[in-house]
Amino acid sequence: MSKLIKEESLTDKDESAEAHGKCMLNRRKFLMYSGGTAAAASTVSITLFAGTAQAETRKASVQGYPRKKIATLSQLKDHQPINFNYPDDGKNSQAMIVKMGDVQAGGGVGAKRDVVAFSYMCTHQGGPLQTTYKHVGDQRVMGQCPLHLSTYDLRRHGIIVSGQAYQSLPQVLLEVEGDDVYAVGIMGLLFGRQDNLSA
Ligand code: FES
Repeated sequence: MSKLIKEESLTDKDESAEAHGKCMLNRRKFLMYSGGTAAAASTVSITLFAGTAQAETRKASVQGYPRKKIATLSQLKDHQPINFNYPDDGKNSQAMIVKMGDVQAGGGVGAKRDVVAFSYMCTHQGGPLQTTYKHVGDQRVMGQCPLHLSTYDLRRHGIIVSGQAYQSLPQVLLEVEGDDVYAVGIMGLLFGRQDNLSA
């Protein structure tokens, strides 16, 4: 988080209760602000070293992920992933969105909460996971990775269930507006990046 924050001097006016309230981020903004360079930026007030004698309030410039339309709900067919790139078209940005056949998932959107999106890059050594989506019974996984067999559970935020990897598969955060599905952030670090917004 420290990489995202550009500190600026604070005037007396900014120490008002109103300004202080601006640091109350909602969940979506909190998730969106977990990146580096950005398409959107805004300013909030934050308290450093809260509760200590060194506590001080600063203005901080935060930058967020782009909001990118990646699909429509009506075009998604059960178990047929659609590919897209996010948050940019750079290195390791390949990802997919899939409707998992009425099986609810963490972070899922749509009426059945069964629409999810994930990176295609294995978190171990970047093995390509394209074409590895599988559904068996209630299981919905990505894998096995062709390099060292890692498999990720797409119902549970891409948690690793077998293989060499030790980090979950990055999940693309989704929002629905009407029939449109937007990517609005990423939970987890894309393989091969210092931060998700620097390709
Ligand atoms: S690169 Fe995927 S398990 Fe090693």
